[in-house]
Amino acid sequence: GSYASTATLAPTRRQQVDPEAVGIVGQGQAQANANIALIKYWGKADEDLIIPTTSSLSLTLDGLSTRTSVQFLDLNAGPDRLAIDDQPQGGKALGRVSRFLDLVRRQAGIDAPALVSSYNTVPYGAGLASSSSAFAALAGAACVAAGLDLSPRELSRLARRGSGSACRSIFGGLALWQAGQDDASSYAQPVDSQMDLALIVVLVSGQEKRISSREAMRRTISTSPLYQAWVDQSQADLEQALAAIRANDLQALGPVVEANALGMHAAMLAARPAVSYWLPDTLLAFDAVRQIRADGLSAWATLDAGPNIKVLTSGQEAARVAEELRRRLPGVNIQVHKPGPGLQIIGSDGGER
Ligand code: DP6
Repeated sequence: GSYASTATLAPTRRQQVDPEAVGIVGQGQAQANANIALIKYWGKADEDLIIPTTSSLSLTLDGLSTRTSVQFLDLNAGPDRLAIDDQPQGGKALGRVSRFLDLVRRQAGIDAPALVSSYNTVPYGAGLASSSSAFAALAGAACVAAGLDLSPRELSRLARRGSGSACRSIFGGLALWQAGQDDASSYAQPVDSQMDLALIVVLVSGQEKRISSREAMRRTISTSPLYQAWVDQSQADLEQALAAIRANDLQALGPVVEANALGMHAAMLAARPAVSYWLPDTLLAFDAVRQIRADGLSAWATLDAGPNIKVLTSGQEAARVAEELRRRLPGVNIQVHKPGPGLQIIGSDGGER
């Protein structure tokens, strides 16, 4: 989901403040990268706590990051303020961030309003500004600002409350989100691997999604006759994917990654009314991946809550695969991403800690 498109609550703090005129009680800065699921999360068993119906597996990518700073102000109450890429935000985006900050404030025993400023270093267009990097970075920055010293697992649980997929962006490379059954048992952890992986993002369209992933999940669960079949298969898919990773076997990992995503979209298409993120160019891109694979290269496609496809390949073959994709899809923005690091806390000097 994108930061701006999926919130539900209006801001709770209305009183006006002039941030210049008040002190700062704490501040923090953090950076996190977006992750792309190889075995998907699609549906919540608990909407409020964001406990998923299935466990999921992802790859955190280099170069798709959000850097966020949080300052808590020396006031008992007042409105939170949020800017994304220097644009002041209100409404749903601010409401969702405020509600998330309330969790941090409650845990830290403070009631201070916050100034939040966030920058996305996504190098091209819109449509990939993922909530995964956004809420992972916000969790890190807000905890530092509030003086909370959380473990990576606790940060993962916290980030999950902002956006499910964000719990995986606390960790670099491959991460497994164990569904769990309550707040304490639902978190991500890193998956040890020597695999040489890359994901190629094929930017079919930079347009905003028509339906948020949050809403689309809800509709799929409540109306799609294919949903439970996807959930049932998902457990086997995950085990197969983890076995392939343990065996360092991309030829075994690729097919289950592609099948899991297609199964998720099949369940969406069967919802009533249908949830479809497919554009004609999405199909063309899938077809290009099939051709490239037939030519002997490692390439499998996955698709999230939008029309852009991400192609799983090896780091070694990535440049060749990207070149073949560009040749078959002229004019389409195609970028190679290697695995990237997890949450990084930024020191007051601007360096990493
Ligand atoms: C298709 O994490 O954006 O990308 O928990 O409602 O914020 P919320 O949803 P979000 O959903 C991501 C869905 C997905 C698959 C995935 O990342 O696993």
